[in-house]
Amino acid sequence: MAVSRQTGSAVDDARRGFAGFHAVFGVEPAGVWAAPGRVNVIGEHTDYNDGFVLPMAIDRACYAAAAPRADRVLRVHGAQIGEGGETIEIPLDALVGPGSAHDTRDASSSDMSPLADPAVSGWAAYPVGVAWILQQAGFPVGGADLYLTSTVPVGAGLSSSAALECATALALAGVSGFELTTAELARHTQRAENIYAGVPCGPLDQMSSAFGQDGSVLFIDTRGGEVRPQPFDLAAHDALLLVIDTRVSHAHGDSGYADRRAACERAAAFLGVKALRDIPAEALPETFAKVVVGLDETTARRVRHVVTENARVEQFVAILHAEPVSLPRLGHRMMQSHASLRDDYEVSAPELDLAVATAVAAGAHGARMTGGGFGGSAIALVDRDQLDAVQDAVRAAFAENSYTEPQFFPAVASAGARRIA
Ligand code: GLA
Repeated sequence: MAVSRQTGSAVDDARRGFAGFHAVFGVEPAGVWAAPGRVNVIGEHTDYNDGFVLPMAIDRACYAAAAPRADRVLRVHGAQIGEGGETIEIPLDALVGPGSAHDTRDASSSDMSPLADPAVSGWAAYPVGVAWILQQAGFPVGGADLYLTSTVPVGAGLSSSAALECATALALAGVSGFELTTAELARHTQRAENIYAGVPCGPLDQMSSAFGQDGSVLFIDTRGGEVRPQPFDLAAHDALLLVIDTRVSHAHGDSGYADRRAACERAAAFLGVKALRDIPAEALPETFAKVVVGLDETTARRVRHVVTENARVEQFVAILHAEPVSLPRLGHRMMQSHASLRDDYEVSAPELDLAVATAVAAGAHGARMTGGGFGGSAIALVDRDQLDAVQDAVRAAFAENSYTEPQFFPAVASAGARRIA
């Protein structure tokens, strides 16, 4: 089977953390923590509309090896930054928050405008933002040395930043001697990304990394944060979920993401509901017409995506519980989701559309973009005996279009953030 697997056993992962930490800091770490990336199986751009999502944690993770320090200094080494890694150092007491000491926004602020802390920028804003938010929330964060390394590809729409944030948070809690509940872990890391890194994401990524479970997808009602793991044993059906990383970095979609989010908020305000989650599928025709007249046709299509996508998540879960589970029916919902993201929500990319169309033409039951879009990865539901045909077809189609060669690997539903050594 020609799929690449970068992760080894938990023992290998722990060893990697120990060895890397020792090489940089010259001593042994006190422990190693891991937090996975995710794929979202269905339910895209619904999380910031209080809607439904169905992600799973994958067996690619960020590893944080850490040791406490006697002073109140945080040193973080990013092993994959630049040539040979990069270390940043910051006194915890200097973390007064993004902006300045006079900035009144705090961890509970709902103002998510991008903020820049002059002390940290780039990748370092992610781990430092986590230390900042935990302090803001009253946790006794102590000085620490942290070594971070990851097998989640960056920019591939697989939540490498949520993995980094969750691994950092658990490592800081571990070496400082306090506990975080899984819900606290998800909530604080999302706030760190919103406020400190200035990325207006919803709760999907951090909740997936925090709550992941072996062999399950997670039905999450993002209003209230209820998580209901659902069995997802594709191996029992001789099938798998194939990740197709288009190698188009999704980073250039940042403004597109913020635009979509703003359009949804505008529409909800216009319709007099708290969030688009409150529009029932039956009310869609009437709602669509109302938004076309009162706002514009583009916004009406954004609304239609969110309303129909929420319904598709519920339908997908119902199919998972049917006996026998029908892979073609699951695949059909994935195709509908992709079409809606492409045509109504307009967050796909030519490479994603090609990956999806080619995978299905080559025998996949269904495929769709996953994550925020504008690049990143697609996922395809594939019978094992079709795997080579699907990969070969997608690779050939990309070559014909002179696109960068895509990367493939199976998404294996995995455990969430945890201590591994
Ligand atoms: C990104 C965001 C998530 C979610 C998805 C789209 O991954 O970080 O919060 O909005 O896009 O479903």
